[in-house]
Amino acid sequence: MTQGTPTSERPLRISVIGTNYLGANTAAGMAEFGFDVIGVEIDEHRLKLLNDGKAPLYEPGLDPLLKKHVDSGRLRFTKDYTEIADWADVHFICVGTPQTEGSDAADLSQVNSVVDMLAPGLTRPCLVVGRSTVPVGTAKLVEQRFQTEAPAGEGIELAWQPEFLREAHGVEDTLHPDRLVFGVETEAAETRLRQVFAQPIAEGTPVVVCNRPTAELVKGGANAFLATKISFINALAEMADAAGADVTQLADALGHDKRIGRGMLNAGPGYGGGCLPKDLRSFMARAGELGVEEVITLLREVDDINQRRRGRIVDVVHELLGAEWVGKKVTVLGAAFKAGTDDVRDSPALDVAGRIQLHGATVTVYDPEAMENARQVRPTLRYAASAAEACEGAHLVLHLTEWPEFRELDPAALRGAVENPVVVDARLSLDSKKWRDAGWTYKAPGKP
Ligand code: UGA
Repeated sequence: MTQGTPTSERPLRISVIGTNYLGANTAAGMAEFGFDVIGVEIDEHRLKLLNDGKAPLYEPGLDPLLKKHVDSGRLRFTKDYTEIADWADVHFICVGTPQTEGSDAADLSQVNSVVDMLAPGLTRPCLVVGRSTVPVGTAKLVEQRFQTEAPAGEGIELAWQPEFLREAHGVEDTLHPDRLVFGVETEAAETRLRQVFAQPIAEGTPVVVCNRPTAELVKGGANAFLATKISFINALAEMADAAGADVTQLADALGHDKRIGRGMLNAGPGYGGGCLPKDLRSFMARAGELGVEEVITLLREVDDINQRRRGRIVDVVHELLGAEWVGKKVTVLGAAFKAGTDDVRDSPALDVAGRIQLHGATVTVYDPEAMENARQVRPTLRYAASAAEACEGAHLVLHLTEWPEFRELDPAALRGAVENPVVVDARLSLDSKKWRDAGWTYKAPGKP
C-alpha cells in the first residue's frame, strides 16, 4: 500500500482535524517541522482566531508559532472537509473525547463525526493518525469504518500515535517530545510516521513502535500512572499530618530515588483538568468491559483519594474559620486547574471555592489568566481584579493554584488589607517563613 502521493518533489501535506488545545499545538508543530498544514475547525469564532494566528486558548508560546506559520503561508485553517480530504497525505485526528454524561466511559461522538465528514472525500490512499485519547480497541473500529465508507477503501490505513502534551508546555512537548509511540499495523505506516517526525527523531527522541492496542493503552496507562502518583503522595500527606511530618520533604527524599522520581509528587488539592480525571475514569470503564476488575479496584481508590483531597481542604478551612461561615469572607487565589493555563475544567480550585460558598461564606476569586472561564463555570462566585483586591476584608486566604505571582505576593502588605491574617497554602508552595514573619497564621495540609 502507498500512503499518499510520493513526496520527494514537495513537502508532505498534513491535515489536523480538531484544533483545540491538542490540534492547535499539532498544527503549529507540523508547520514548524516544515510541512504544509491545514487545520479543520468547525467553530467560526475559533476559526477566525486561528487564521489570524491566535490560539483559541492561553498557552505560552503558541501564538507566536501559529502566527509565524500563518504568515509564512504554510499553515491555514478551514471548516471545509473537502479542502483536506484528497489534499493531505496524512490526516491527524485531534478532537476531544470527554467523559460521557452519567457514565465513566469516554464519549467518542467527535471521533465518529470526523469519520462521517472525512471518509466520503477520501478517494486516494492515505494515512489517518489518531492522537485523541481513546479506549483501547477504538483504532480498529475507526479503521473499519474508514475502509467501508471511503471510496479509497482499503487504501486508508489508520495508525494511533498518542500524545503526551502537558498544558502550559504544549509547544515544547510537541516540538521536542520525550518519546514517540507509533501504533501501526504495517511498515508503510511506520515509514510515513518516521517521515512526519523526522525532526524529533533526529534529535534523539526514542521511538516505540507497537501495535495499535498497545499504543492506545500507553496513553491511558500513562495518565492513570500519573494520577496514581499524585494520589499516592496526597495519601501520604494525610499520614504526614497525622504524624507531624512534612510531605514536601518526604517527596523530595523519595524523589531522589531514580526509580521513583520527583515528578508528579507535589501534594496539594489533587489533580484536575480536562485529561487526568476523565482519562482515569474512561480507563476504568474500559477495564470493566474487558473484565479486568483489578485495574478498576486500584484506580477507583486513586479517584476517591483525589476527591477526598478537596474535602480535606474544606475541613481545614472549617477548623480555622469556626462553625459559623455566614458573614465570613474567604479569598481564593487561583481558579485554573494548574498554573500556566486558563483551563478550569474539573479545577480543584473552583470546586473547593464552590464548596466553601455552599457552606455560607462569601468567596472572592482571583486568577491571573482564568477569570473569564471561571466566571462562565461559576458565575455566583465573586471575582476581583487582583490578588490584593481579592484579599480586602478576608477572614481567610486560600492558595489553590500555584501561579508564580502568588509566591511573589508581599504578605506584610496584604496583612493590612485582610480582616484576619490566616492563609491556607493548599499548594504547599508559599514561603511559610515569610508569611509567618509578617504575622500570618500559616497552615498547609501535609506540613507540620
Ligand atoms: C496531563 C499529562 O501530564 C500529559 O502527559 C497528558 O498528555 C495530558 O494530561 C493529556 O492527557 O492530554 P495536563 O492535564 O496538562 O497533562 O496536566 P498535568 O501537568 O499532568 O497536571 C494534572 C493535574 O495534576 C493538575 O491539576 C496538577 O495541578 C496536578 N498535579 C500535578 C499535582 O497535584 N501534583 C503534581 O505533582 C503534579
